[in-house]
Amino acid sequence: MKRILVTYATMAGSTAEVAQVIGEEIAKSGAQVDVLPLAEAKSPKDYDGVVVGGPMIMGWHRDALRFLKTHHEAWQRIPLAVFVTAISLTQTGETSVDGVPVYVDDRLPKPPLTAGRPTFRERYARVTNYLRPILAALRPARPVSIGVFGGRLEYGRLPWWGVLFVMLIIQAPAGDRRNWAAIRSWAAELPAAFGLAAPEAQELAQMA
Ligand SMILES: Cc1cc2nc3c(=O)[nH]c(=O)nc-3n(C[C@H](O)[C@H](O)[C@H](O)COP(=O)(O)O)c2cc1C
Repeated sequence: MKRILVTYATMAGSTAEVAQVIGEEIAKSGAQVDVLPLAEAKSPKDYDGVVVGGPMIMGWHRDALRFLKTHHEAWQRIPLAVFVTAISLTQTGETSVDGVPVYVDDRLPKPPLTAGRPTFRERYARVTNYLRPILAALRPARPVSIGVFGGRLEYGRLPWWGVLFVMLIIQAPAGDRRNWAAIRSWAAELPAAFGLAAPEAQELAQMA
C-alpha cells in the first residue's frame, strides 16, 4: 500500500484542520495517509508522496520552509505538493509560478482597488511574492502542485505583535475563510499528481 505524509505548520490551529481534510481526501485513493504536525513528522523517505502545508505568517511559516530545506535532497526523488493558507491575496489570474501549477481558491483573491496602480499591500499579497521563496528553497526540485487557500483569522488567538502586523500590513477582517470544497477538490487530484494508481487499479494489482 502506498504511504502519503501530510504535514503542516500552524500558528493558531486552523491549518491543522485543513491538513486533516486533505489527508481524508487523499485516503479515498486507497493510500495510507499520516497527517502530522511538522514536529512529529518522520523522514519523507518513508513515504511515496508528501504534502507540506503552512500559513502565511509574515512569509510562509518558517517551520514549513525549514522542513523543505532540511529535506532538500529528498524532494528530488519523492513527489511533493505544497499548500499555503492566507487571508489576503491580490487577484492576478496566475495559474502557475515558475512552471509549477498553482491552484488558487477562487474565493480568496481580490482585485487591486485601482487597476494598474496596486498599493504596497496589494503588491505584497501577490501569489508570486508568496510562493517564490518556497520554490527557491526546493530548487532544483519542483512540487507537483501548490494549493493556495483562504485561512482563518481570529485576533483573540494571536500575540499582540501578530495583531499589529495583521492590522497594519494585511488589513484583513477576522473570520474563517476556509473553502472546504476548494481544499477537497485540490486534494482529490494529488494521488494522480503523485503517480499513484487509482483504487480499482490497486485492488486489481493486489488480486493478481
Ligand atoms: C502574524 C501574522 C502574519 C500574517 N501574515 C499574512 C500574510 O502575509 N498574508 C496573508 O494572506 N495572511 C497572513 N496572515 C493570516 C494567516 O495566514 C491566516 O490567518 C492563517 O489561516 C493562519 O493559520 P493558522 O490558524 O494555522 O495559524 C497572517 C497572520 C498572522 C497572525
